[in-house]
Amino acid sequence: MNILVTGANGQLGNAMRIAAIGSKENYFFTSISELSAEAARLLSRLSAGKACTETSILDVTNLEDIRDFVREHHIEVVVNCAAYTNVDAAESDIESAERLNAKAPENLALVMKEVGGFLFHLSTDYVFGKELYNKPCSEDLQGTPAGVYGRTKLQGEQNIEASGCKYIIIRTAWLYGEFGKNFVKTMLNLIASRSQIKVVFDQVGTPTYTGDLADVIFQIIENRWYEGHTGIFHYSNEGVCSWFDFTKMIALMAGNTDCDILPCYSEEYPSPVDRPAYSVLDKTKIKTVFGITIPYWTESLRVCIQHLLS
Ligand SMILES: NC(=O)c1ccc[n+]([C@@H]2O[C@H](COP(=O)([O-])OP(=O)(O)OC[C@H]3O[C@@H](n4cnc5c(N)ncnc54)[C@H](OP(=O)(O)O)[C@@H]3O)[C@@H](O)[C@H]2O)c1
Repeated sequence: MNILVTGANGQLGNAMRIAAIGSKENYFFTSISELSAEAARLLSRLSAGKACTETSILDVTNLEDIRDFVREHHIEVVVNCAAYTNVDAAESDIESAERLNAKAPENLALVMKEVGGFLFHLSTDYVFGKELYNKPCSEDLQGTPAGVYGRTKLQGEQNIEASGCKYIIIRTAWLYGEFGKNFVKTMLNLIASRSQIKVVFDQVGTPTYTGDLADVIFQIIENRWYEGHTGIFHYSNEGVCSWFDFTKMIALMAGNTDCDILPCYSEEYPSPVDRPAYSVLDKTKIKTVFGITIPYWTESLRVCIQHLLS
């Protein structure tokens, strides 16, 4: 079976390259540009040189290019890791966010519908936002996004649903890993360079390690568990924390006791878009349907920090 991974140079895309090592299937890793030399070195280090570092150029906003690639390489499954993920920048770059988060998933869905293939797509807890929940959000909860990023990701979901293709949309949250920019890497730098930092404690959710998410997607593909399971699923690591708790744990695991980490309210960090105050994802469905167990967030954070600091 031939599998296309789009946006393969991002956080999750690179984790998919590692998850796919040793697969009996053929994976094609694509993105809008070449993999950087730094990311290629990191991939080689983390995978003992086994992960694929090749990238074919494929722009997911171009329907004809997707159609040509899928037909030429006889693609049966697509994993769409491409997205416009800069939440603040999306507020002033609405057109780009719409093209990547709403139109591109529709393009991929239309082509998968044409060839009878299966689409895996990633979405976000930002499809919730305005409401103040106090219990985990299930897949069928109707949320109202607070900003452009959440709104365009919700449009992407709706476009896939309307296309009639077979799909799994996985909503995830607070994604971090060894590749790209993320909260863990930013905080490791800040706590190493400052004597004191303030981090918000009034936004609660669950971190998600890209390695865990990529492994789950890989298992669902390899075992063909996706067959007959079109729909939306939630996935994050287990547990709940605030960004403040997350940072305290990052410092503890990095062995940094010098930086004073203080809790603060979101008002102290004004941003163009309101973050969801409580966006814990209920993962009962994905655990029940596919029989998976999900690591507790601190266990996975330990793995990632070991990789980053080794
Ligand atoms: N990051 C989070 O905290 C988070 C949370 C919840 C859900 N998610 C979702 O999880 C998924 C993966 O997120 P991520 O953090 O891995 O994203 P990411 O690191 O930002 O990676 C996205 C990738 O898409 C590529 N890309 C940009 N434009 C493209 C185009 N026109 N065609 C093909 N590829 C293109 C980017 O290339 P360049 O690097 O060259 O720009 C980048 O490598 C996304 O759907 C995101 O919405 C993320």
